[in-house]
Amino acid sequence: MKRDFLNLFDLSSDEHKALFHRARALKDARRQRRVVTTMAGRTLVMIFEKASTRTRLSFEAAITQLGGSAIDLSAVNSQTARGEPLADTARVTGRYCDVVMMRTFGDERLAEFARHCEVPVINGLTDGGHPVQILTDLFTIEERFGAVAGRTLAFIGDTASNMGRSFTEGAKLFGYQLVLASPKGYHPADDVLALSPGHVRLVSDPREAVRQADVVITDVWTSMGQEAESKQRLSDLASYQVDRALMAQAKPEAIFLHCLPAHRGEEVEAEVIDGPRSAVWDEAENRLHVQKALIETLVLASERLREMEPALKAARG
Ligand code: CP
Ligand code: NVA
Repeated sequence: MKRDFLNLFDLSSDEHKALFHRARALKDARRQRRVVTTMAGRTLVMIFEKASTRTRLSFEAAITQLGGSAIDLSAVNSQTARGEPLADTARVTGRYCDVVMMRTFGDERLAEFARHCEVPVINGLTDGGHPVQILTDLFTIEERFGAVAGRTLAFIGDTASNMGRSFTEGAKLFGYQLVLASPKGYHPADDVLALSPGHVRLVSDPREAVRQADVVITDVWTSMGQEAESKQRLSDLASYQVDRALMAQAKPEAIFLHCLPAHRGEEVEAEVIDGPRSAVWDEAENRLHVQKALIETLVLASERLREMEPALKAARG
């Protein structure tokens, strides 16, 4: 038995609260140069089937600073690239380490890996979601505004992206209102919208979306794996850039978030992302603190479950 984090629903509301509390404590500890070694002796394996800068750096820094170590398994250099079944890789990986972070394409691939791996698996981005990034963004909003619940978030552009989908998933769970501004064909599918009834509004006009917004968010217009559609996407989304004029329509205290990497001049104007309302560098830093708390939570909970296993088996007869 073990605990995975494949999407935001893998933790309860209370566990999310505890996780943010712990992330704040870990952030304070780092500021005060207090060393925390709760993951001493533990190993994290990171599997990348797509490119990454922040996810690779922040996960490796997280486990290292907690006293553990990381192994980076780039898929192109592994036997999976030569046809070894994913399930076999998952079984073997689980025997060597204490937690896995995987970045891949389809969600079913991540789910298959998690099913065959005996240790916790963390979603480090799939086509269908980027839950560690959303956790971090919500933590950053809480840091700025005191709470996420009751706030209005406006997501502009390709709201059907993994970022848009995970923000939609989190709206009811975290109690925020989400306004998604996209042209036709770029809103999340109905099954995703159904995850947060009463919390998500779809609009086509970005100005309408940001009017009551505390937070204005965007993401790249061409996500990894969509490169062939890039020209079409650029043209379809051209009027959805987050620029100074759009930010001027949001609440005066509204902040700007972007998970990065950013394309200045496409989804965001340089003056916005590099301007005073941008919280993107705190957002990027917070990946470290939030993921430390997440690794601890999953590893320690899974170790407890494993210790309880003989007693549970005996009780079942
Ligand atoms: N935001 C994010 O996940 O960045 P990377 O793709 O660089 O990991
Ligand atoms: N939607 C983007 C996020 C990158 C962190 C992508 O999947 O490429």
